[in-house]
Amino acid sequence: MGRFYVTTPIYYVNDAPHIGHAYTTVVADALARWHRLAGDEVFFLTGTDEHGVKIQRTAEAQGITPRELADRTSARFAEAWKLLDISYDDFIRTTEPRHYTSVQAFLQKIYDNGDIELATYEGLYCVSCEDYYTEAQAVDGHCPIHGRQLEHLSEDNYFFKLSRYEQRLLDWYDAVPDAVLPPTKRNEALGFIKQGLQDISITRTSTRWGVPVPWDDRHVFYVWYDALINYITAIGYGTDDERFATWWPVVHHLIGKEIIRFHCVWWPAMCLAAGIDPPLQVLVHGWLLVGGEKMSKTALNQIAPADLVADFGVDAYRYHFLRDKPLGPDGDFSYEGMVARYNSDLANNLGNLLSRVATVVDKKCGGTGPAPKPDSPLAAVAAEALAASTAAWERAAPNEALEATWQLIREANAYLEANEPWKADPGPAVEAVLGDALEALRIVALLASPALPSTCAEIWRRLGLSGALDDQRVPEAAAWGGYPGGLRVEKGDPLFPRLSA
Ligand code: MSP
Repeated sequence: MGRFYVTTPIYYVNDAPHIGHAYTTVVADALARWHRLAGDEVFFLTGTDEHGVKIQRTAEAQGITPRELADRTSARFAEAWKLLDISYDDFIRTTEPRHYTSVQAFLQKIYDNGDIELATYEGLYCVSCEDYYTEAQAVDGHCPIHGRQLEHLSEDNYFFKLSRYEQRLLDWYDAVPDAVLPPTKRNEALGFIKQGLQDISITRTSTRWGVPVPWDDRHVFYVWYDALINYITAIGYGTDDERFATWWPVVHHLIGKEIIRFHCVWWPAMCLAAGIDPPLQVLVHGWLLVGGEKMSKTALNQIAPADLVADFGVDAYRYHFLRDKPLGPDGDFSYEGMVARYNSDLANNLGNLLSRVATVVDKKCGGTGPAPKPDSPLAAVAAEALAASTAAWERAAPNEALEATWQLIREANAYLEANEPWKADPGPAVEAVLGDALEALRIVALLASPALPSTCAEIWRRLGLSGALDDQRVPEAAAWGGYPGGLRVEKGDPLFPRLSA
C-alpha cells in the first residue's frame, strides 16, 4: 500500500468559485478517489488563500473587513466543493491559528539558517499577482498577466536568498526527472532557474493583513510566502512531527500554469532552505478558456459550476472536464461540446448499456442477473481496460483513463448488438450474454467511479451487488468473474436522459 498526498492551490478569497478553480479541484478529487480505490492511504487537501493586499483592498471596496470577506468567500468555495462531490480530507484557511504556527516555525528556521536578510526593495508591483516585475517584464508599465497598471513600491523588506539555490535546484531537477510534469512545463521551470535567480522580498510593512514575522513584528509575511506553506501546515509541520513525516514529501501539487514559478522554483528552494525535502511532484495544467480568453472578473466571462450542474448534473459535469480537458494544454470551454460529450458517452454509451441490460434481464430472466462466462470475449477487453486505465490514473491522465474505460463500454454494447439477446428465447445462451454484460458493467462501475462517484454507486446498487462500491479495491475487485449471478437487477430511470443541444 502506498501513500498519496494531493493538493490543489489554495484559492484567493477575492473571487467567487468558477469552473477554472473547479477544474483543478475536480482533477485532484478524481486522483484522490482513484488512489483510495487502489488501496493507497490518501490525504487530499484544498482550501483558501486569505491574506495580502489584494484581499484587503477588495474588502475595503466592499465596506467589510478582510476577515469578513475571507469568511464569506471561503464558505462559498466549501459550498461549491460540496456541490461537486469533492472528497477532500482537509480544507485549510490561511487565517487559521494552526497556519500561523507552521508559517512562523518554517520561516524562523530559514532565518536561523541565515537565508533571510533585511534590505531595501524598490520595484514595480502588480496587486493582482501579488508580485514584483522588472522593467523588462512589464508591458508598457502594465502587468504582463493582468494588464493592470503596475505600482511603484519601495519597502524595507526581508529577503529570501533565492540566488543561493540555483545550483541546488538544478541538481534536484536533474535527480528527479518527473518532479514537474508535463515535460513542457518542467522546461519552463528550468528556464526560470537558468535565467538566474534573484533574491525575493518576503515581508511587507505596507499592510497588517498577513502572518506576523516572529523576529520583527513591524512586518508581516508576503502572501505567497505564507500561502505555499499551507501544504505543510495541514500535515503538522512544527506541531506534529510524526504526522509530518508520514505525508512529506509524498505530495503531488496540482497547479495552473500561471503559478509555476512559485511552486517549481520558490517552493522547492524554501523547502531546501528549511532543511526538508522538496515536494515529490508538481502537476501543471493549462487554463480553461472561455471564448478563447482566461476567465477573470474583469473580463466578465466567469462561469459558476452551479450553473452547469443545473443543466447536466454533478457527475456529468465532472466527467466532461476530466474527459475533455487533458492536463497540460489550454482548452476552450464549450457548452455545445459538453452537450455532445454527455449525449455520446453518458446517454448513449453508459446509460444505454445499463438500461438495455436491465430491461432484457427483466424480460428474459425474470429480473435475476445471470453469472458471466469465464471465457467471455469481453474478459480480455475488461483486462485491457483495467490495465490501461490504471496506468493512466497513475500518470495523472484522467482523460486517457476514461477513454480506456469507455472502450469496454463500447465493446460491451457491440457484443450485445452482435448477439441480440432481446430477440432470442430465454435460456442459457441469452443468460451467458447478459451475464457477461452485467460483469462488464460491474467493472465499468469500479473504473469510472473516480469521475462519476454517485452514478457508479447507483449502478452498483442496481446490479444488486452488496456492500459499498467505495469499499472495493482494485485490481482484485476488477478481475473478470466477480459478478456472482443470481442477484436482483433493478431497471430504474435512465441515468442520463438525452439532452438536446
Ligand atoms: N492563491 C494562489 C495560489 C496559492 S497556492 C499556494 C492563486 N489563487 S487563484 O485563486 O488565483 O488561482 C488558483 C488556481 O485556480 C490556479 O492555479 C488554477 O489552478 C486555477 N484556475 C484559476 N483560473 C483558471 C482558469 N481559467 N483555468 C484553469 N484553472 C484556473 O493563484
